[in-house]
Amino acid sequence: MALPLLQIALDNLTIEDAITSAKKAAKYIDVIEVGTILLASEGKKAIKALKDAFPDKIIVADGKIADAGKVFAKMFYDNGADFTTAICAAENATMQDLVNFSKEYSPSKELQVEMTTNFSWEQVESWKKSGVPQVVWHRARDAQAAGVKWGQKDIEIVKKLANMGFKVTVTGGVEVEDIKLFKDIPIFIFIAGRSIRDAADPELAAKEFKDEFKKYWK
Ligand code: 5RP
Ligand code: MG
Repeated sequence: MALPLLQIALDNLTIEDAITSAKKAAKYIDVIEVGTILLASEGKKAIKALKDAFPDKIIVADGKIADAGKVFAKMFYDNGADFTTAICAAENATMQDLVNFSKEYSPSKELQVEMTTNFSWEQVESWKKSGVPQVVWHRARDAQAAGVKWGQKDIEIVKKLANMGFKVTVTGGVEVEDIKLFKDIPIFIFIAGRSIRDAADPELAAKEFKDEFKKYWK
């Protein structure tokens, strides 16, 4: 089973701060996320700045697109994003537009549907039919703050999504000790934001994630 990739979520408030955070951990990072918070704070220029600073990394624009899919996707891809996210509440028409537009733009551009617990399996089936390549299983930041822990339910959902053929990312306050919960599942990417950005030694924190991946995915 392929080793998962490590993505750093840059939910910083300024581009300068985001680049500083990313530089500190870059050695062990595969994917750089321009976080929703950074996008709201600094706009599309944040995507360009991160792509310019890290041309060899995969760049994700976590725009959580809800509507006007093509307008947002064009804006994000034109500025250097490789993947863009849409929120699971978006209509099927938005998902289909995003899948088609991404493919037309370039075969390397991909949509990730960001899932919270507010979804139905009927929707997931419709994403599959539309050709959605990636999903992100997301413990919402506010749910985490309200005390929601990772559990068996997450594992079952993630397993089912992977079995359906999606490339699956896991995110939402992920710590190194959470990684083993998902062993034996082909996870495409784990995202860590605060657990790397706020660490005393971000490079070491990122390395610890990579070492943990090697223990469980061989
Ligand atoms: C919140 C997000 C965050 O980017 C995601 O939760 C990862 O950051 P952290 O590891 O700090 O929770 O999309 O909506
Ligand atoms: Mg994010």
